[in-house]
Amino acid sequence: MIVRTAKKSDKEEVLKFCSNTFEWGDYIHQVWDIWSAEQHSKLYVVDYERRKNNNNFPVAISHVTICPGKRQIWLEGIRVHPAHRRKKIATALIAKMLQFGMRQGAIEASAVVATDNIGSRLMLENNGFSVISRWVYYASTHKAVGSSRIRPTDARVASLEDLNDVCNYLTDSPIYKLSGKRYVKAWRWYFLNRNTLRHFIKKRNLIVTGYPSPNGIALLNRCGYWHRRDALQIVYLDSLSKSSLQNLVAFLTNLRISSIKPPPNSHSYVLQFLAYQSEHLPVVMKKFDIKESEQFLLYARRL
Ligand SMILES: CC(C)(COP(=O)(O)OP(=O)(O)OC[C@H]1O[C@@H](n2cnc3c(N)ncnc32)[C@H](O)[C@@H]1OP(=O)(O)O)[C@@H](O)C(=O)NCCC(=O)NCCS
Repeated sequence: MIVRTAKKSDKEEVLKFCSNTFEWGDYIHQVWDIWSAEQHSKLYVVDYERRKNNNNFPVAISHVTICPGKRQIWLEGIRVHPAHRRKKIATALIAKMLQFGMRQGAIEASAVVATDNIGSRLMLENNGFSVISRWVYYASTHKAVGSSRIRPTDARVASLEDLNDVCNYLTDSPIYKLSGKRYVKAWRWYFLNRNTLRHFIKKRNLIVTGYPSPNGIALLNRCGYWHRRDALQIVYLDSLSKSSLQNLVAFLTNLRISSIKPPPNSHSYVLQFLAYQSEHLPVVMKKFDIKESEQFLLYARRL
C-alpha cells in the first residue's frame, strides 16, 4: 500500500468510488478541484493494486489542511473503495495526515463525523480521537422572494462597540465551552476567538440579542461554501434562554427574506443552521418549521 499526494489524473478513478458513499450521495466531486489547489493542505490517495499494464490506481483518498493560526489540522474526505475496506487503509491515511500536521508544527487534529456513521466513529476512536462536541444541522429550502411573514425580534447586527460585551458573554457561556469553542467555516470547525468575532462584526455577520448585555449571538455566512452560492449558513448559535434563541432565529429567518440573492434560474435557496445541540434548539426550530437534517460529532486528538 502506497500513500501519496494525489495527481490531476487520479480524479476520474477516485470519483468512481466516491459518488454513492452515503444515502444522499457524496460531495467529493464538488471539492476535488478546490482541495487540489488549496495551499497549506495535502490531498492524499492510496494505491493498492496494480493493473496488468503496471499502472497503480487509487482506492482511497483523504484531505488534510492547516487551520488558521497553524496550531490545528483539519482532517476530511476520508474515503476507501468499498472493496478495500477493513485493510487498515484509512488508518494509514490518518497516520500520514497526522505526520503532515506534526511536521507543520500543529499540536491538535480534528474531524467531524455524522453521529450515525458508526464505522467512521470507531475508526477515529481507534486512532486516538475523542468526542469534544455534539452538533446538529438543520436545513430547509426557502423561496427567495415571497410572502413569508416577518416576525418580531429585538436581535440586531452587532457593531464593533459590542465586541467586548460579546467576548465577555462567550467567556461565561456554557454553550461556547460545549461547542469546543468553535464555529464552522465551509464544513470545517475552527476556533472562535476575539479576532474571529471582530472579523464577523466587520462583515456585518454577527447578530446579537439582549440589552444592555447580550444574551445570545449568532454568526452568519452569507457567501455560501465551495461552489455553492445558494446557502445562507448560521455557523455558530449561542443563547442563554429559549426566548433569546427565538429572537435570534426570528431575525435570521426575517433576514433571508430581504437579503439573499438566489443563483440564476433558481427561486429558492437553502437556510442551514450548524449549531451545538442545546436543550432549547429542537423546540425553537420546530416552532419555525425548520427540520433537523443530521447530527454530527466533533472529534479531536493531540499530536
Ligand atoms: C470509514 C472508512 C473510511 C474506514 O476505512 P477502512 O480502511 O475500512 O478503515 P480501517 O481498516 O483503517 O479500520 C480501522 C478501524 O476502524 C474501525 N472500523 C472501520 N470501519 C468499520 C466499520 N464499518 N464497522 C465497524 N468498525 C469499523 C475498526 O475498529 C477498524 O479496525 P479493525 O478492522 O481492526 O476492527 C470506510 O469504511 C469508508 O470509506 N466509509 C465511507 C466513507 C466514510 O464514512 N468516511 C468517513 C467520513 S468522516
